[in-house]
Amino acid sequence: MSKLAPTHQKLRGGYYTPQPVADFLARWAIKSPRDRVLEPSCGDGVLVESAIKVLIERGADRRKAVNLVQGVEIEQAERLKVLGRIQALGCRPEAANIHLGDFFTYCKENLADHGLLALCEQRETASFDAIIGNPPFIRYQNFQEEHRKPAFEIMQRAGLAPNRLTNSWVPFVVAASFLLSEQGRLALVIPAELLQVNYAAELRRFLSDYFRQITLITFQKLVFDGIQQEVVLVLAERSGNGVSGIRTVELSGVDDLADYEHTDFIHRELKPMDHSTEKWTQYFLSNKEIGLLRELRTHPQLTESGKVIDVDVGIVTGQNDFFVLSGARAKELSLKKFTRRLVSRSGHLKGTIFSAADWQANAEQELPAYLLDLPDRELSELTEAAQKYVASGQAADFDKGFKCRIRKRWYVVPSVWTPDAFMLRQVHGYPKLILNETKATCTDTIHRVRFREGANGSLIVAAFLNSLTFAFSEVTGRSYGGGVLELEPNEAEKLPLPLKNAERLDVFDLHEMLLADQIDDALEITDKALLIDGLGLSRREAKALREIWQRLRDRRINRKHSAIRRAAVS
Ligand SMILES: C[S@@+](CC[C@H](N)C(=O)[O-])C[C@H]1O[C@@H](n2cnc3c(N)ncnc32)[C@H](O)[C@@H]1O
Repeated sequence: MSKLAPTHQKLRGGYYTPQPVADFLARWAIKSPRDRVLEPSCGDGVLVESAIKVLIERGADRRKAVNLVQGVEIEQAERLKVLGRIQALGCRPEAANIHLGDFFTYCKENLADHGLLALCEQRETASFDAIIGNPPFIRYQNFQEEHRKPAFEIMQRAGLAPNRLTNSWVPFVVAASFLLSEQGRLALVIPAELLQVNYAAELRRFLSDYFRQITLITFQKLVFDGIQQEVVLVLAERSGNGVSGIRTVELSGVDDLADYEHTDFIHRELKPMDHSTEKWTQYFLSNKEIGLLRELRTHPQLTESGKVIDVDVGIVTGQNDFFVLSGARAKELSLKKFTRRLVSRSGHLKGTIFSAADWQANAEQELPAYLLDLPDRELSELTEAAQKYVASGQAADFDKGFKCRIRKRWYVVPSVWTPDAFMLRQVHGYPKLILNETKATCTDTIHRVRFREGANGSLIVAAFLNSLTFAFSEVTGRSYGGGVLELEPNEAEKLPLPLKNAERLDVFDLHEMLLADQIDDALEITDKALLIDGLGLSRREAKALREIWQRLRDRRINRKHSAIRRAAVS
C-alpha cells in the first residue's frame, strides 16, 4: 500500500474512518430500507460501503440501496475507489451517485436553485434521512478559497460568523445539518475540539439549537494513527422522538463499539442542553453536578479571578535557543550583563512560592535561567561580544523567523517585565498561582500575573487552591491529546475564586504541603475555610466539587495515545 505524500494527505484532510466506526455510524443513522443517505466527503468509500450494506440489511434490494446513497468526493482517485467498493458489493457502479467535486459547491449547484436554505425549506427532495461522514480537517490557510467561499456563505446564512480560525469541518457540519429531513439523523466523526475550542463555540450553540437530541461518544485511545487528532462521534437527531437533551458515552477504543447496541444509549442520562457557546466538557458530569456548577457560577460571594488578577502571556522570545541561556553559557559569551533572571519551564516552579533561593538553585544546576535582554540600540552601539553573538544568530537565520522578523531590531525582545506571580499555562495535576519573590520573568510556557490594585497577593495565591476553582478550571480550559489542561489568559481571568476567609490560610504552609505532594491535605484545609465556612456550602457539595475536578482531571490524563488503525490512504 503506497502512501500519499503526507502534505497532500494533510491538505485535503484525508484520514479515513476505521471500519468498526463506519459500520456503527451507518447502523445508528439508517433506520429503514427507504432512507436516503448522504456521505459529504467519501474518501475511499468506507462509509458508503457501510451505508449500502446497512440498507440491504434493513431490506432494500441492491439496486435500490445504491440509488438511495449519494456521495461527494473531491479527489477522482478516491472517488474511483468508492465505485470499486460498490462493485465489490455486487452492485452496479454506474447506478451510483458519487459526485466528483467540492461538497459546498455541490450543495449550491446540484441541490439548490435558490441557495441552500431556500432549498431545505422548500424542496422535500433535497433532504436526506441520514447523513454519515468524517469531514476533512483543513485549517483556514489551507482551505482553498473556491471551497471556503461557498462554505462560509452557508455558515453566514445560518447566522454564524466564520473567521480565520474556522476549520473546514465546521461548515461541513453546518451544511450537512441543513440537508437533513425533519426526522433526519446526522452521524459524524468530528475532531474532539468541538467540545472545547473557541472557534467551535458558535457551532456548539448551533447544534444544540438545531437538534433535539445529541449523543457524543469519546474514546480514551486515539482513533487515527499518525496524527494526534482526538475525535468524537456526534450522533444528532432532528426530532429525537420528542425527547431533548445531550448525553455522553466514554469508551476505551473503537473496538468497544462492536459490543455496543444503539439502544444501550437510551439508558444513559440525558442532560438538558445548555443553549450557549459554553464548552461541552461539562456534559461528562452528571445532571446533579452540572446543576451544582451552574448554580455556583452566579454565587454572589464568588469573585471572578479577573477582578483581582491580570493574566498575560509570558515572554515570546521568537527563538529560545538564542535568547534563553544558562549561566555558564552567558558567561562564556561575555553576555551576563545583558541578562535577566528567567523561569523557562513550569517544572521549575515548585509549590506556590518562587523565592530568590529557588532561582539560585535553578541557576546552579545550569538550567536555562537567564534571558538575553539586549538594549534597544543599534548593533554598532553594543559590545563586541553582543555584536558577535547577534551575528551568529543571523548566520543561523534566527532573524528570519516570524516573531523576530517583525521587530524593529530582531535581537531586542519586547515586553520584558517581571510579574507579581506566575500561573501554569499547561496544567498536569492542578492549576496554581505561584508568588514571585524574585526579579525573574518567564517565557510563554508560563503566564505572567499582576495583582490588581488593592489585591493581597498571598491571599489570592492561597485561595486559588480549592476544589471549586479547580473544578471550574477543568470546564473552562481545554485539553489536548497529551492530557494537559491549557488555560488561555482570558480563560484564567474567568475562574471563580472564593476569597472570603482567605486570611485564615497560610500560604507558606500550603507551599510546604505542595512541595510534599500533599494536595489533598491542602484542599481539606482550603475547602473547609473557603467553601464550607466562607461560601456556606455543605460538606457534601464541597466533596462533589472535589470529585468533579478529580474526574475531569483523570479523564483528560487517561486519554492514551495508542492508536487503532493507520489511515488507509493508498
Ligand atoms: C477525513 S477524510 C474522510 C473520508 C471518508 N469520509 C472516511 O470517513 O473515511 C476527508 C475526505 O474529504 C475529502 N475532501 C476534502 N475537501 C473536500 C471538499 N471540499 N469537498 C468534498 N470532499 C472533500 C478528502 O479528499 C478526503 O477524502
